[in-house]
Amino acid sequence: MDTLTALKQRFSANHFSDQPVTDDTLTALIDAARQAPSSFNQQHTRFLAVQDLAARQTLRAIAYNQAKVEAAPLVLIVLGDLHAHAHFSEVTDADVQAGIYDQNLANYFVDAVKTGYADPARAHDEAIRSGSLAAMNLMTAATALGLVTGPMIGFDAAKLKEAFGISDRYLPVMLITVGYNGEGNWPKKTRRSVEELLVRDARPGKVNSFVR
Ligand SMILES: Cc1cc2nc3c(=O)[nH]c(=O)nc-3n(C[C@H](O)[C@H](O)[C@H](O)COP(=O)(O)O)c2cc1C
Repeated sequence: MDTLTALKQRFSANHFSDQPVTDDTLTALIDAARQAPSSFNQQHTRFLAVQDLAARQTLRAIAYNQAKVEAAPLVLIVLGDLHAHAHFSEVTDADVQAGIYDQNLANYFVDAVKTGYADPARAHDEAIRSGSLAAMNLMTAATALGLVTGPMIGFDAAKLKEAFGISDRYLPVMLITVGYNGEGNWPKKTRRSVEELLVRDARPGKVNSFVR
């Protein structure tokens, strides 16, 4: 399936068949997710794959009893690393090793990232941004592979961290239910038109629908 078709076909599923998600498919999904861009290539995003039924039942309770969390054979907890900036030399080391840029430039990047993301609010925003981009990659890839997904922010983050022992270094970004299409799902919902969303040829000082 080509990318545009996958983007247009993706919808949020509530119902899943009994077909399990294989480990190869899970690997392919995370491989797709990790291709997403992140600021300075900090790669904030991590995943917990919740597959066991009892674990999904616990997660369902944490997700305000949303039934799809138990119905989906796989639920991914998407986490964002709030300390990615402090561990950034691990990334530059790999890039230097691969010959992409030299150590001098690496040192410059490491300094810029350490300073730029010292403010926890910035680190928080970046973790959400990166996690969201990775999640979208994953959902698009899942559609292309014939699966259905559902992004979810309806959960109690404190209870989630407690139940799964997630350290304060990691921010729960969202859950993604993953599986194969079951009966009773709505088709994809409508979208606003392109013309409603887009201002063409925007310029400083030029009046458009979004300026004050
Ligand atoms: C960040 C985010 C959080 C969401 N959280 C939930 C949720 O907790 N429960 C739910 O049923 N749907 C959730 N959704 C799904 C949206 O309702 C859905 O994407 C939207 O209605 C558009 O429908 P579509 O995805 O089928 O096109 C969430 C979507 C996003 C992007």
